[in-house]
Amino acid sequence: MPQIIIDTDPGVDDAIAILMALAAPSVEVAGVTVVGGNVPHARGLRNVLALLDFVGRPGIPVHRGSSRPLAGRFASARHFHGFSGITRRLPDPVTRPAPQRAVDFLAHQLAQRPGELTLAAIGPLTNLARLERQHPGSLSRSAALAVMGGAVDTPGNITPHAEFNFHCDPLAAHEVLNAGVPLTLVDLAACRQVSVTREAAFALKATGTLGRLALEIVQNWFRADERRESMLFYDQIAMAAAFCPEVITTRQVTLAVETEGVAAGASTVAADGGPVALADKVDVERLFALMGACLGWEGV
Ligand code: RIB
Ligand code: CA
Repeated sequence: MPQIIIDTDPGVDDAIAILMALAAPSVEVAGVTVVGGNVPHARGLRNVLALLDFVGRPGIPVHRGSSRPLAGRFASARHFHGFSGITRRLPDPVTRPAPQRAVDFLAHQLAQRPGELTLAAIGPLTNLARLERQHPGSLSRSAALAVMGGAVDTPGNITPHAEFNFHCDPLAAHEVLNAGVPLTLVDLAACRQVSVTREAAFALKATGTLGRLALEIVQNWFRADERRESMLFYDQIAMAAAFCPEVITTRQVTLAVETEGVAAGASTVAADGGPVALADKVDVERLFALMGACLGWEGV
């Protein structure tokens, strides 16, 4: 059973990815670490705690992470995720975050359980870069590392060059991708193979608390702006790849990340071969079947 630690900036798609992991019978969520990004860190922390309380999983430890990137300041994506970051109002959390900071939690867990823990990084990579700076070799103790980020040979989604997570902290992206650690990267070229239309979203039915909440988040995202005709899945694909790698095919590359200037966060293939398993094709049918099974979604 994969034990997953989720590093996240929730976020609409983050929330759905977290719900997928919670609902997957073959997965145990060993902890959640929070990073700024889609919304400020404090808001993201509140969203994780509120989400876990709402679905009756307050026992999963949630750890404070980076509220700023290695350099500069986080952009935000409230235009996409809404001011609160999740398009479904959740009661204020009762559960408090764990006292240990994200980097210390990750370092301790990976040192205590080498080869056992999968990391699903679905926000800016600041926490993971700080982990590797402060505790060199930690990332290599993970059983697997699945990352959502980058725009390889495809336009960005926050600038013409860069994808949001890499743009938020390009130096962190550079350091994690060049730490020599095997990782699976689901970039925008992969994400653009998967979407759900407004019509399909409102035709979906869901059973169970987790699935209904995930579906409400999706449907409310469409309600928030009548111009929205389809929704891309970002973090959901990376999360699926973390515990069901068969949903994607990959090719091994070495990636270069631009760390400054107008193209900051841009990611290009520096060489074939290398530690990054870059998503190539997404098995959309298999992904939707997995999401349907995890979330009890009928009609996806
Ligand atoms: O570019 C998409 C990524 O940026 C996703 O992780 C989304 O949640 C935002 O953080
Ligand atoms: Ca995210």
